[in-house]
Amino acid sequence: MAKVTIQKLEKMKADGEKISMITSYDYATACVVNQAGIEIILVGDSLMMTVMGENTTVPCTIEEMIHHIKAVVAGAPDPMIVGDMVFGSYNVSEQQAIESANRMMKEGRCDVVKLEGGREMAHIVKAIVDSGTPVMGHIGLTPQTASKMGGFKVQGKGEAAREVLADALAIQEAGAFSIVVEGVPEALGKLITAKLDIPVIGIGAGRYTDGQVMVFHDMLGFFDKFVPKFVKQYLHLNEEIKGALGEYKDDVRKGTFPGDDNVFGGVTDEDLKDLY
Ligand code: KIV
Repeated sequence: MAKVTIQKLEKMKADGEKISMITSYDYATACVVNQAGIEIILVGDSLMMTVMGENTTVPCTIEEMIHHIKAVVAGAPDPMIVGDMVFGSYNVSEQQAIESANRMMKEGRCDVVKLEGGREMAHIVKAIVDSGTPVMGHIGLTPQTASKMGGFKVQGKGEAAREVLADALAIQEAGAFSIVVEGVPEALGKLITAKLDIPVIGIGAGRYTDGQVMVFHDMLGFFDKFVPKFVKQYLHLNEEIKGALGEYKDDVRKGTFPGDDNVFGGVTDEDLKDLY
């Protein structure tokens, strides 16, 4: 697959071809995602929960994010690599946001950045885009500010749907090339997708968005602290890994691992007998 560009995603939206996006945080999984032909990788700050065991995404630092972006870039040359701007790296000023985005592009070598927020963040999106870095927006349920929302709750129900649509339009107007819409009723996801010219990627936003994004560990059943309703588990990796580890432990205990295939020759007991 050739490197996925903004122009390719625009064409996919125009052609009604669905876009797939998945998180990845390390080299090995990035290699597999690359081989699977997924169009976009998000190095998401969800890594704080799935990899670091935190309860929220908030503690992620820009240094930690850059560290993970580098590993993913090394493993996945073809997908577009989106670096997630971490909480506190873009909410102080436009200057701070531009400097953070510059670091992610130069040190991490991602292709674009993503940041959370609606109308209140439109000026930040515009500042980063004007400085030369493409921005993917993220509205609806925004995990970095979940505590302000009263937790990880579906957004845009009833009259509040108008607010989320206004956020989507503002982020597009600010120059974002695409937008993630998270945790909204399906009918609202459909409306936003119809109203926006830029590709809309949904997570818990129903079936009608231009694409879908999932957290790698969620979809493979590798993170089961909680499983949100919008997650489809394609594998139950925890169970499979537990089974394999159990077999390994058994083999070690019984002495059936290492086997003949796993050992090195080159010296015999006879050669070493004087050393015992
Ligand atoms: O960090 C992340 O994984 C995300 C997705 C939930 C879109 O932002």
